[in-house]
Amino acid sequence: MREFELEKHFSKWEFAARYHMTASDAQSMTVDELLEMAGDKAKDELLNCWLGYTETRGAPDLREAIADTYNVCKADNIQCFVGIEEGIYAAMRVMLNSDDHAIVVVPNYQAAETLALSICEVTGIPLLADENWRLDLDALRDAIRPNTKLVSINFPNNPTGAIPDHDTLNSLIDICRAHDIWLFSDEVYRLMEIDEEKRIPQIADIYEKGVSVNVLSKAYGLPGLRIGWAACQDKELLSSLEKYRHYMSICSSAPSERLSVIALSIKDKLLTRNRQIVFENRNKLDVFFSDYPDLFEWRHPDGGCVAYPKYLGADGVESFCHDLVETEGVLLLPASIYKSELMDTPQQHFRIGMGRHGIDEGLKVMRKFIDRRGNRL
Ligand SMILES: Cc1ncc(COP(=O)(O)O)c(C=O)c1O
Repeated sequence: MREFELEKHFSKWEFAARYHMTASDAQSMTVDELLEMAGDKAKDELLNCWLGYTETRGAPDLREAIADTYNVCKADNIQCFVGIEEGIYAAMRVMLNSDDHAIVVVPNYQAAETLALSICEVTGIPLLADENWRLDLDALRDAIRPNTKLVSINFPNNPTGAIPDHDTLNSLIDICRAHDIWLFSDEVYRLMEIDEEKRIPQIADIYEKGVSVNVLSKAYGLPGLRIGWAACQDKELLSSLEKYRHYMSICSSAPSERLSVIALSIKDKLLTRNRQIVFENRNKLDVFFSDYPDLFEWRHPDGGCVAYPKYLGADGVESFCHDLVETEGVLLLPASIYKSELMDTPQQHFRIGMGRHGIDEGLKVMRKFIDRRGNRL
């Protein structure tokens, strides 16, 4: 399999760069802070956690708490995983065979295409950069083959933040239904929409062959818990995922499951806090980018914790991001990290994060760096 470009880059820089300006998660917290937020009983619950194995499907009360975030799916429609990276891997292995064909939205979080490509033929369908990352449904219709088994989407999209409008989503589901295709939907940035009107339903709630995957890492800001899940109406698929997990992590960490139940019991508090951070950071980015209209094309994403502005400097985005991290310790993700094996991707964009505290220092250093190089651009 092709190396995971983003993770490779993060292995080198995530903890080495002084200013991590491209994180895709919301600001995390300590165990103590989480317990404090959740009130008196939470600490006892954690301290009384039994350190034995837990259920492969996920602890029953955790699956109940997760199911509460769905309209239709219940606890027995949930399969838990370690993070959702494990879930994506298991799902692709279980859902695809070598003689199948899959369709994946581009640009994407690389696991979506590389894992599918390691199993079968895959066609990319674009989010159109010049049309505010509109999903090209004509490309989807053209891509469908008799053996197309699965369409893989991710909205709000990493890296563009795009969310399709409700009509487009409904057409997408109609197309999948007409061809009896699974719709695999990575929804890890859901609930972080800028405008709540743009929020789309969870696919597993509205499509009988929909699989929604999610995790506590992004909107909830708790990636260290490594608790993710797949939701799906199809019991056979859930059973296959459970059996596949017997060969992977078997079950999640018991303390993580306890902390996840605690976190979901205060989900509104967590989400309100995290949306506020994104809101404040977006305002800061508005100010920053408005000072450099010739250097950046800045557009708000529809949702998520990251944005994907375009760099207009003559040196190109790769050199800009490279110099920025090497000389100033400011980490951004240039477009090459999002290159696809399926089709050309826009070349001059970069990913910047909006979910964490402390972006002011990074922006200050970026300003100095840009101002110093001023007339070279
Ligand atoms: C779209 C998307 N899906 C899945 C994941 C994996 O999430 P986790 O690291 O919590 O397993 C990420 C992480 O960045 C992501 O951006």
